Formats: sequence, structure tokens, C-alpha cells
Amino acid sequence: MTDLVEKLYRERTLSKSELIELINCRDADTERLRTLAEKVRIENYGHDVYVRGLIEFSNYCKQDCRYCGIRKSNLNCERYRLSYNDIMECCDEGYKLGFRTFVLQSGEDAYFTDDRLCEIITAIKSRYPDCALTLSIGEKSFDSYKRYYDCGADRYLLRHETANKEHYQKLHPEAQSFENRMRCLNDLKRIGYQVGCGFMVGSPYQTDECLAEDLLFMKDFNPQMIGIGPFISHKDTEFDDYPDGSAELTIKLLSIIRLMLPKVLLPATTALATIDAKGREKGILAGANVVMPNLSPVLVRKKYQIYDNKICTGDESAQCALCLKQRIESIGCRIVTDRGDSKNK
Ligand code: 5AD
Ligand code: FES
Repeated sequence: MTDLVEKLYRERTLSKSELIELINCRDADTERLRTLAEKVRIENYGHDVYVRGLIEFSNYCKQDCRYCGIRKSNLNCERYRLSYNDIMECCDEGYKLGFRTFVLQSGEDAYFTDDRLCEIITAIKSRYPDCALTLSIGEKSFDSYKRYYDCGADRYLLRHETANKEHYQKLHPEAQSFENRMRCLNDLKRIGYQVGCGFMVGSPYQTDECLAEDLLFMKDFNPQMIGIGPFISHKDTEFDDYPDGSAELTIKLLSIIRLMLPKVLLPATTALATIDAKGREKGILAGANVVMPNLSPVLVRKKYQIYDNKICTGDESAQCALCLKQRIESIGCRIVTDRGDSKNK
């Protein structure tokens, strides 16, 4: 493994078979991989960790991803949507706490038409011209993406979920296609968004080959952000007894990604912190440089359960902000409150 780690560090990529070998082996050189990833993170971003305020504004969803707790066919999911005023209040609260990026995330909720979304985007950007606005609202048409962008949305997160078409089809119903997912990602990039893609680690039917394909896809797509987190089973889905993804493998993949895309923005995700109490700290020490605390009102937090046992669902935004600050500082990093644009141009 030593040779592969050094080669990855030098050449910023490996062949598919080499990646599979690297993902597979579990010897002591994981520490060398981590150290190099941390070094590369520091070279590009110093000890800065960016915070993004996440606003989960609706859990209605017309899609039916088989792994997801807010999928359309989960009748046990109590649905909610925030009003325009609720959303603006979340931003006010976030702004006071120092956040300069807001991430608006939701299921694919038809109530939020393009007109309604554009009204919200325009309002946030005019009230907070110094903030970046990220959308994470799923698959839309080119024209819709373009309208949001023209209203001022800066960034868009849409995980590709898996770069392997057969795997994609196993995770989703027939109506959701791999081709459309890829079309969306390409449209977003073409329009000019800073784009984020990503996948779950340990999702059902995932193989090491799938993971290698994910890594090579991302290297080629060259996004500004990459979100990865362990798959965590949700009791109301058909994957309820499928084992959770591993924190160790997630952390190892974070390091590999940092070496392949040195300047990418890489969150230590809530899912990682859910399966490992020190997940965020370990993620950052392995190359991650972003955290995304929840700004949603406490009353609705528990309802945005895409997986079981999600953390921070009982905490106020201010508590999360303070908790994160302390955690980040405990590992020698500092929270940065500016927009934190990607250096991966
Ligand atoms: N476990 C972990 N992550 C999940 N997501 C959806 N369901 C789960 C789950 N059960 C991820 C998907 C999606 C993102 C919003 O959350 O990758 O893109
Ligand atoms: Fe929410 Fe720690 S980040 S309480």
C-alpha cells in the first residue's frame, strides 16, 4: 500500500485497479495516507474550516430513492414545509451567528415552484449581499437551474450517488435515471454554478469497484465540492436491516479525495458524526475542511430524518455553532465565517 499512497500523492490519480487495491487494504499505512491528506489540506486551505448554515426547508419529496427516509412512499414521515418568513428568520439567526453561506435543502417539493424559489433566493441575496447561497433541491430542468442562478444562487449540491449505472438503478426506482442525474450535474456546471457532487459510503450493493468508479468520475468531473458520508439505514425503508457504512472507510475515502482533488471543498458530514461521536474531528484531520451545522428550527429538525439517529435534532442553532467551534478548535483548526469559495476553479 505504501507505494500506492506515495504514487497517489505524487500523481494525483491512480488507475481503477490501483484504487480498488488501495480501498481494500487495511494496513498501518492508512496513517500515512491521512498525514499526506492533512498536509495537502493545510497547503491549500491552512487551518481554516468553513461553516455553512443548513436550512432544511421542506421534507416533502416526489422522488422515491430506496435508501432515503423522506422518500415519497414513506407514509410514516411527518411532512412539513417552512414558510417564506420561517426561512428568512433562519437566515437572520444564522447571520447573527456569523454564517456567510446558507444552504437551502429540501426534498423535491412541488409546492416550491420556480416563482416561489426565485422570490426566496432574491430576498436572501438582497438582504445578505455578502453571503453565498447554495441550493440542494434535487433534479430540475436546465431552465429552472438557470432561473435560480440568474436570481443569485451561487452553488448547487447534487450528489451523483454512484457513478455506476447498474448500481444507480438498484438504489432508485425505474422512474429515476442515471442519465438524468448526470444531465443535471452537467447543466449546473455549464450554467456557472460552483457544483458539489458526492455519494454514500457503504450503500446497498456498493462494491469496491463502484467506489473506484466514483473516485475517477469525480476526478474527471472536477467539482468545487464533494459530499460523502456513510450510508445509515432508515427503519421505514426496504434497506432497514442493511448494515451502516463504516466510519473508517469514509475517513479513508476523504483522504483519497483530498489527494486526488487538492483544492476541493470537502465537508465532514453529519452522517459521519452520527455513526462516530468524533466523526467530524476525524474527518477534518483526514483532509476535510467544511462543516454544515443545522439552522432549521428545532421544531422541524426531527422530521428531516433521511437516516435514523441523526444528531443535533434537539439542539438550537446557537448550540451547534458553539459546539462546532469548540470541536474545531480542539484539533487546532479555526472556523472561518467568510463565504469560503472553493479554490478549485
Ligand atoms: N444514509 C445516509 N445518507 C443518505 N442520504 C439519503 N439517504 C441516506 C441514508 N439512509 C444522502 C444522499 C442524498 C443526501 C441528501 O443524503 O446521498 O443525496
Ligand atoms: Fe449540533 Fe454539536 S454540532 S450540538
